[in-house]
Amino acid sequence: MKVLTVLGGQWGDEGKGKIVDLLAGRFDVVARYHGGHNAGHTVKYADRHFALHLLPAGVLRGRTGVIGPGVVVDLGALLAEIDAVRAAGVTVGENLLLSDRAHVILPYHRLLDAAREKAAGDAKLGTTLRGIGPAYESAASRKGVRIAELYREATLKARVEAIAFESKALLESLAMTDIPGVEAVVEALGEAARRLRPHVVDTGLYLRKRLGEGATLLGEGAHGVLLDIGAGTYPFVTSSHCTSASVASGLQIAPKQLDASLLVLKAYTTRVGSGPFPTELSDATGEYLRKRGNEYGTSTGRPRRTGWLDLAVGRFAADVTGADAIAITKLDVLDDIDPIPVCVGYRLDGKLVETLPALVEDVARLEPVLEKLPGWKAKTTSVTRFSDLPPAARRYVSFIEEKTGAPAVFVSTGPRREETIFRDDLPFAAALPADP
Ligand code: GDP
Ligand code: IMO
Ligand code: MG
Repeated sequence: MKVLTVLGGQWGDEGKGKIVDLLAGRFDVVARYHGGHNAGHTVKYADRHFALHLLPAGVLRGRTGVIGPGVVVDLGALLAEIDAVRAAGVTVGENLLLSDRAHVILPYHRLLDAAREKAAGDAKLGTTLRGIGPAYESAASRKGVRIAELYREATLKARVEAIAFESKALLESLAMTDIPGVEAVVEALGEAARRLRPHVVDTGLYLRKRLGEGATLLGEGAHGVLLDIGAGTYPFVTSSHCTSASVASGLQIAPKQLDASLLVLKAYTTRVGSGPFPTELSDATGEYLRKRGNEYGTSTGRPRRTGWLDLAVGRFAADVTGADAIAITKLDVLDDIDPIPVCVGYRLDGKLVETLPALVEDVARLEPVLEKLPGWKAKTTSVTRFSDLPPAARRYVSFIEEKTGAPAVFVSTGPRREETIFRDDLPFAAALPADP
């Protein structure tokens, strides 16, 4: 296995950051291929705590980090993140490569995101307000500013003018009048671009060459399959593709280079922002999971909505990403729950349905079919050997394996790097590049 991708199998925040960090040491390059600083990936070890938004988690392990052409980049956010991790003693220099084809998030995109959410009132999507959707819209409408354009003054100005012109009309119609002028925006971009210049390359060319020479690559997925703009609970989704299909396009490498996918599933479910969530718990148990699991957004601090594990979702995510293995996180959070209900399908108008219907109004009406699994009522926090888990916890893991059809190569029992079961006896583990 030379190219592996880690993906979220729910609505984000599954613990992808932790899993990428666990694997990063085995790979030459770690790359982000979609999304932007709407992602929040946590890495914890010993007494260190990092919340990464744009930097691939591999930079913490001294690996080459690539921000690929499929990512939308807020220059200020990226610079602030580089400064923050450097201040924490992490080297960010030649090892960080930023694609000259990645699109830039402009202040107009942020304002549009905010204005639309405000205008939508109760019908808002609950976006991260980072300008992600509008930036992808500019890219799709062929009006976007890419990193390369930052270094051609005349081109940059013309592009910013065009976006400013269209955004202004839209923003005013949404009662937003405080709109920054083109000159100020271009000047701020210029300053940030100068600082980022040493990192900017054709990352597609770089990766194709490195892969040709036999290098290994770890794709760091953001968000989750149910937030995918096509496969997710549309319109309550993000604006990028979150399945393994976007790894190749988002990095500009050939799909046939992709060897394997590792799907991360939380042992229960969370969701931030609006949209249907069939197994949601709006009661004291939901509040218990939020407290015990510390379910507050890494990017926005918003309390996450919580609910039981949904294996109809898990199965769909595993199928659509072609999961070769899964990582189950936050098992420890369920230590005191008995029995543990798990969703295995739904009923809609009295009929059984095995997967989410197309329309969110139908998803909102689904009644989950819950199977009750025995709890273990014992502490699994920090357990590092599968055989040390209580039998009921092992049964919970094997139930997830059966329903998703993929082996659980990692079972995570706490937020820190050290608090992990790695099942090195599985064929998937043996196929990974060696741990140096
Ligand atoms: P990501 O967006 O998928 O990388 O996930 P986040 O970092 O946004 O959210 C996952 C949260 O769960 C973080 O606060 C992690 O530190 C924490 N976490 C990850 N794995 C475990 C685990 O096994 N147990 C517990 N208790 N916390 C975990
Ligand atoms: P990580 O990578 C959880 C959600 C937002 C909102 C919807 C659209 O940390 O798992 P956007 O700002 O992307 O237009 O918002 O998508 N969302 C996430 N939820 N984790 C994330 O990333 C998310 N990225 C976007 O909350 O509901
Ligand atoms: Mg997150």
